Amino acid sequence: ATDHLVLFMPSGKRGRFATDTPVLEAARQLGVHVESVCGGRGICGRCQVEVQEGVFAKHGITSSNEHISAFGGNETRYAEKRDLKAGRRLSCSAKILGDLVIDIPQDAVVNAQVVRKDSDGRVIERNPAIQMCYVEVEEPDMHKPLGDLDRLLQAVEADWGFKNVTVDAYLYGQVQQILRKGNWKVTAAIHEPLHGGPATLVALYPGLKNEAYGIACDIGSTTIAMHLSSLLSGRTLASSGASNPQIRFGEDLMSRVSYVMMNPDGREGMTKAVREALNELIDKVCAQGEVDRADILDAVFVGNPIMHHLFLGIDPTELGGAPFALAVSGAVNVKSSEIGLPLNPGARVYMLPCIAGHVGADAAAATLTEGPHRQDEMMLLVDVGTNAEIVLGNSSRTVAASSPTGPAFEGAEISCGQRAAPGAIERIRINPETLEPRYRVIGIEPWSDEPGFDEAAAKVGVTGVCGSGIIEIIAEMYLAGIITEDGVINGDLAARSPRIIGNGRTFSYLLRDGEQRLMVTQNDVRAIQLAKAALYAGIKLLMDKQGIDHVDRIGLAGAFGSFIDPKYALVLGLVPDCDLERVKAVGNAAGTGARMALLNRSHRREIEATVTRIEKIETALESKFQDHFVNAMALPNKIDAFPRLAE
Ligand code: FES
Repeated sequence: ATDHLVLFMPSGKRGRFATDTPVLEAARQLGVHVESVCGGRGICGRCQVEVQEGVFAKHGITSSNEHISAFGGNETRYAEKRDLKAGRRLSCSAKILGDLVIDIPQDAVVNAQVVRKDSDGRVIERNPAIQMCYVEVEEPDMHKPLGDLDRLLQAVEADWGFKNVTVDAYLYGQVQQILRKGNWKVTAAIHEPLHGGPATLVALYPGLKNEAYGIACDIGSTTIAMHLSSLLSGRTLASSGASNPQIRFGEDLMSRVSYVMMNPDGREGMTKAVREALNELIDKVCAQGEVDRADILDAVFVGNPIMHHLFLGIDPTELGGAPFALAVSGAVNVKSSEIGLPLNPGARVYMLPCIAGHVGADAAAATLTEGPHRQDEMMLLVDVGTNAEIVLGNSSRTVAASSPTGPAFEGAEISCGQRAAPGAIERIRINPETLEPRYRVIGIEPWSDEPGFDEAAAKVGVTGVCGSGIIEIIAEMYLAGIITEDGVINGDLAARSPRIIGNGRTFSYLLRDGEQRLMVTQNDVRAIQLAKAALYAGIKLLMDKQGIDHVDRIGLAGAFGSFIDPKYALVLGLVPDCDLERVKAVGNAAGTGARMALLNRSHRREIEATVTRIEKIETALESKFQDHFVNAMALPNKIDAFPRLAE
């Protein structure tokens, strides 16, 4: 036969092609994205692929290097000059001669940034919103009055198929100089809109510009996390984080909204603060990745609705009370220069859509990462912050809500609470016999009962307990019988242990004695009970909506979710009963979702479509919320059983 079966990995797309079809061409026809900057001239090397050899019985393909044309011409020149890695081929030169399984190397791995957790090995296939297009432009001719820019756009259309391309205004004044500098060879950065319409020339470079960068950023109310990635290889070149400077206007979200309501220039101040912090972070990741800021052409931001609004310069007052109206819920497309982020003058900014007034673009991004909408299993996705964002669903139906957990999980409102930083207790075990604790402190290697701890503690200091530590302490206190199901610290134990200390009508547990005494008071336990009851009640409402009494999988997102031990989340009844193995920290799922949207425009389309389908539940309007809340005050719950925990 003259026609050959070709399967592309990792997408799994396949088709039949005639002998001598260039591999790049075959990929194009199947809608498989293969990067190409030079348009097949064999000079950019971006179109590399690998032939997988072997018998792929499942697909009915026997793939071999003999089924692809030998090196020659451009490819040989490129391989000699640039040293092409063994096994790699330039898909613009290599031609199909027989059945093939072709692997498109993907450098971007989902969750590669989550240091404490193993990567789940999934890859982000690339298809960025910005396409770098190398063209050779006809030189001017007195007999043809067509302008330089017009001839450039003609070349872009002829080689790359972009019709009626519009041009960013700033380029009009630069185009002639750039064309001459590049000796009529230039690289045009073309931004393709997501939902049709003409593409835009956003940047122009003399010669072959074989690189373009993007940033993906999660603006959290406490911390901001940013990644710098190559749009062409997908590789993450640098990651950095900073605390959100808006903290000085208010610890939690609602206090920031009140600040705006009470101060005439409050909104402006907070917008300015967060943009300044972002600019500093951009400097940082650029320095780390050795990238020129002006080479950043695309940026994706996610955040909860209030961070989203403040970043865009929108007054968040409406989000402070019912009906929690968002100024804009759909995805936002702007130029970076319009929102005070100097990158390349043509750089674009994309913000994922918000799900609801309390469930933001960060939850949308986490949804994109974890993909409840892509699977049959019922998945619960929880991002615990001052406001828990909850998404529950599968491929047939997804619901979402937020629950006012308050800042207790972040260590606020807790007498010994503090942010996760050196000196904070993050892990704890309590001996049920002696009621003695042993714990681990951030910044100190040994556990508190191991050699070397005291010296280190003298240096670092043991200053408090961070959010994940608080969950563990309360859970361990419950497991050791120090607190009852109703959350009362059992004073009878004072007779057994000096760690149980009476203070008026209630009791406390002494965690660490010394200069700085760390205690868990009855009020602390109450604060956690209230927070976890709010979280659980919100989840339970969504389970009611879905008509289910058990979830298949749970993903705990956010910085906090990454550090809570799933077991303790179940012991306390933060989340419903579930197979422990299937309760997972999903790391910075929001940041990963932002990276996915940065590197692949079809993910933008996917999440926009998904968000419109998600049913939004307003917990405040649901009469059953209160009942669920009251039941969830008990440890782990008054009526709901946790059978899998016992196993
Ligand atoms: Fe540039 Fe193949 S597309 S080398």
